[in-house]
Amino acid sequence: MYNYSLHNRINECCAKNQLDTGGKDKLFFTRLIANATSIESLYSELYGNHPKKEIAFEELLQTLINAHKHRSTSLQQKDNTKEKKGNWFLSNEITGMSLYVDRFCGNLKNMPAKLGHFENLGVNFLHLMPVFQSPAGESDGGYAVSDFRKVDERFGTLEELQSLQKEMQEKNMYLMIDIVLNHTSHHHEWANKAKAGDPVYQDYFYMYDDRYLPDQFEQAMPEIFPESSPGSFTYVQACRKWVMTVFHNYQWDLNYTNPAVFNAMLDTIFFYANLGIDILRIDAPAFIWKQLGTTCQNLPEAHSLLRLIKQCVQVAAPGMALLGEAIVAPKEIMKYFGTGLYSGKECDVAYNATQMALQWDALATGDTRVMLAAQYDLLQKPFGSTWITYTRCHDDIGLGFEDASITAAGFNAYEHRKYLKDYYSGVHPSSPASGALFSINPKTQDARISGSLASLCGLEKALASNHPYDIDLSVKKILMMQAQTLFIGGLPMLFYGDEVGYTNDYSYLNDSGKSYDNRWMHRPVIDWQKNARITETGTIEERIFSSTQKLISLRKKLSIVADRKNITWLTPHNIHVAGFLRTANDKKLYCLFNYSSKVSYITWYSFKEHGAASKELYDHWTERKHTVGSDHEYFVMEPYSFCLLEASI
Ligand code: GLC
Repeated sequence: MYNYSLHNRINECCAKNQLDTGGKDKLFFTRLIANATSIESLYSELYGNHPKKEIAFEELLQTLINAHKHRSTSLQQKDNTKEKKGNWFLSNEITGMSLYVDRFCGNLKNMPAKLGHFENLGVNFLHLMPVFQSPAGESDGGYAVSDFRKVDERFGTLEELQSLQKEMQEKNMYLMIDIVLNHTSHHHEWANKAKAGDPVYQDYFYMYDDRYLPDQFEQAMPEIFPESSPGSFTYVQACRKWVMTVFHNYQWDLNYTNPAVFNAMLDTIFFYANLGIDILRIDAPAFIWKQLGTTCQNLPEAHSLLRLIKQCVQVAAPGMALLGEAIVAPKEIMKYFGTGLYSGKECDVAYNATQMALQWDALATGDTRVMLAAQYDLLQKPFGSTWITYTRCHDDIGLGFEDASITAAGFNAYEHRKYLKDYYSGVHPSSPASGALFSINPKTQDARISGSLASLCGLEKALASNHPYDIDLSVKKILMMQAQTLFIGGLPMLFYGDEVGYTNDYSYLNDSGKSYDNRWMHRPVIDWQKNARITETGTIEERIFSSTQKLISLRKKLSIVADRKNITWLTPHNIHVAGFLRTANDKKLYCLFNYSSKVSYITWYSFKEHGAASKELYDHWTERKHTVGSDHEYFVMEPYSFCLLEASI
């Protein structure tokens, strides 16, 4: 939309910065003009009443220009290549892994030598858990950042991070890191200045002289870590104020009603973008806007803020996609892709936490009905955006899916969740799982689940009792869970260690900086001697690694599994089996997963719905052909098996 005063202002700003708007800076200038009206209106929505709105908007424009000026030619070329491809992150050729650099291989310097491990597996996208400066012992795994631009000595240097990025880029690998947008460490420079009494920096946080407002806020705010960090405010002796700390007491929430905070963090976003980051993981975006009397989560302003970030990133770093790490209910998560005019224009990627949790639900119950009941909401995702699909990650498993999905499947929501918690914490007598409850809320009895993929699938107990049948069964469960994650649509993100079956590591209990947080049980320190067993046929490591490798290579080969909104769930002819169809032109791929400990039977009629009936099916996983039988006959699935059946008509 043409806007005389705004466009004039931009022209002046570009001239002042000596941009060559008709030549080498033309694409940037075009994008800036194209997005300017949205940027201005989103900005006014958030800061229109702020006394410093004019000067802060000027600063924002300057931040965009600086970001462009600092973007290397090679990154600008990469932006163009990605833009020509369209939404490059929908591809079936990308598979990711998330890892802690120090626990994986010591430090950043050792990473290049480990790239072969990923290439061997087929992983070409890495999520490095936070590497920026964070106080030891009060770091929340790096999510309490004291300097957003200095790599923590434990990991190495910024130069080492940059050279890793270059090496990855040469190998066509993608890189993701976090921007911890919601809070800083209490040792961040801004926090130190606030503690020292500087009112400018006290305004970077939510700080109060007494408990009057904190008490009111807390009435509506759910607690995130009720066991280790109850409440949402912490008393700061140094300045005698209460500061908002939604997560741990050492993580101070940033005050985004202050435009100076927004501008400073936007500048940091571009600092990361210009390191060559392909996807930026925006940590905890659901929490970035607070308002008294609300839960302070998923507020409309949080969405405006994310949209503003997206519009700005599109102008100065268009090749960088945004992942919103919102672990929220299905109806809420959809809003992070944008709504209304902004549909598909907020976050490009979000975690499919609901699907992840529902796979664990089905594994514990042997029943896929709750998973199926949730799909209507999940299928609302706009075309052009995608999920991170995952089975496990560094965090706990939350059971935050809708009660309505549980009820629709015929269960009582409270009893059902209680069963899941008992099952995975190993309390239930028939449970093979060894996990633990995380963040139990004594008031509500809510709890989440910690534990590694292998331990939750029963491998830890099976190995302890050295029972070959149980070991086999747990390996089958691991692979079936991973297969569904890899074929359901989205960017699959494996968690390091799961590719070789690491069970829980209880050594965190001996470290006082970690013992209060049992999520550390599923964040292993890699033992490269154990990993070397992937070359010894028949070892657990080899079995899991080679099968995961095969799944990834199948995914790369089958372009039908790119996330083009081409998924249809099959009629549930058998409640133990989750089944969906991926389609492209005249091609069909049936993906079926048997969550039962027993053999399951599927009527051949299942393969005759949704268009022309299939005559023959080729299972890419077992490499076997099946002739489709009569409707009263069955396709038979072994316990915890899966199949990837391509139809020929
Ligand atoms: C995100 C991270 C989690 C961290 C929290 C606070 O949810 O995934 O590990 O504790 O943010 O930063």
